[in-house]
Amino acid sequence: MPTISNKGINMPESPIRKLVPYAEEAHKQGKTVYYLNIGQPDIKTPKVALDAVKVHSLDILAYSRSEGSENYRIKIAEYYKRNDIHVNHNDIIVTTGGSEALLFAFGSIMDEDDEIIIPEPFYANYNGFSTASGVNVVPVISKIEDNFALPPIEEFEKLITPKTKAILICNPGNPTGYLYSKEEIKKLAAIVKKHDLFLIADEVYREFVYDGVEHYSILQEPGLEEHAIIIDSVSKRYSMCGARIGYLVSKNKEVIKTALKFAQARLSPPTLAQIASEAALETPQSYFDDVKEEYVKRRNTLITELEKIEGVKVAKPNGAFYCIAELPVKNSDDFAKWLLESFDYNNNTVMVAPAAGFYSTPGVGLNQIRIAYVLNEDSLKISVKILAEALKVYKD
Ligand SMILES: Cc1ncc(COP(=O)(O)O)c(C=O)c1O
Repeated sequence: MPTISNKGINMPESPIRKLVPYAEEAHKQGKTVYYLNIGQPDIKTPKVALDAVKVHSLDILAYSRSEGSENYRIKIAEYYKRNDIHVNHNDIIVTTGGSEALLFAFGSIMDEDDEIIIPEPFYANYNGFSTASGVNVVPVISKIEDNFALPPIEEFEKLITPKTKAILICNPGNPTGYLYSKEEIKKLAAIVKKHDLFLIADEVYREFVYDGVEHYSILQEPGLEEHAIIIDSVSKRYSMCGARIGYLVSKNKEVIKTALKFAQARLSPPTLAQIASEAALETPQSYFDDVKEEYVKRRNTLITELEKIEGVKVAKPNGAFYCIAELPVKNSDDFAKWLLESFDYNNNTVMVAPAAGFYSTPGVGLNQIRIAYVLNEDSLKISVKILAEALKVYKD
């Protein structure tokens, strides 16, 4: 019998997607499922992006350049300039989603058994990308009590070993919604410079920052040029998750040269999706203003309603469209399955992501869930009502 690799066996399931069969079963039972588990926004994709693929004049749907089409990268560099991030198109590699940018970044800077420090809870697929790259995640715990602020810098320094190659942050954070301050970025910059590490910032939610606070990118930090790698994506920015376009951005020429070899091995990012994504850069500011206003309303409604439930603790997010909620249950994995398999409120139920999969420390986050506020306010209100009713009857 041929055997599966240890790497394959150790690949973690996505906590966001692993309950899908239970949701499908709930559907078959005739229940309406409110999906709060996945960051798939219900926001419309900008028309300008969809129109671009309808009217293109291609005769052959050919490969593009491995690093992405030059025109597109020039326009991406202009987008960054508008955001006060000064890079040129040769600092950018277009990837198949931010996911591939993460894989290229890991592959370019780390070998088997190297270590990457990541504040947890973190985007669950960082575990998957680390396993796929043979890299060990060293978590530094941020706590719900502190609203998931960056742990003290000494905590990072304690974890640095000769195998440490990088620190990875997600800013603003999935799943916490935490937005790092300029001061926090400066502190991280000082550590990576002192210890000669890379600082990878996943900034795919850059536009989604609330309450008048500004996003501070690692590439705005002077002196970080050789250390900084940005992971970016069109998925959430333009509600184009299915386009599968992202980018890796770095001023470090060796990083770009190396990542390009990974890019060449997979030939090119998708051609039609680059056309749509290039057009998406023309999206008027009013689109983002409206989307932001909508997310702020949703966040406020969600947090207010969750806080009304006895025993539920929630950290208020300043960005992205997720929050972590602590529930009065022992094991949110069991609770999430139970919601789909055995519970309904007027024939409705909710699907949430158990938060343990967003931690790499075993046993942490067991009583937490991640909620994506990707549904409209009315649906969010109903969803929280369902959760509240469920918690009244659920027995651990
Ligand atoms: C923090 C973060 N990074 C990266 C990704 C990957 O996105 P994509 O591959 O769709 O660009 C996601 C998707 O949810 C995410 O939340």
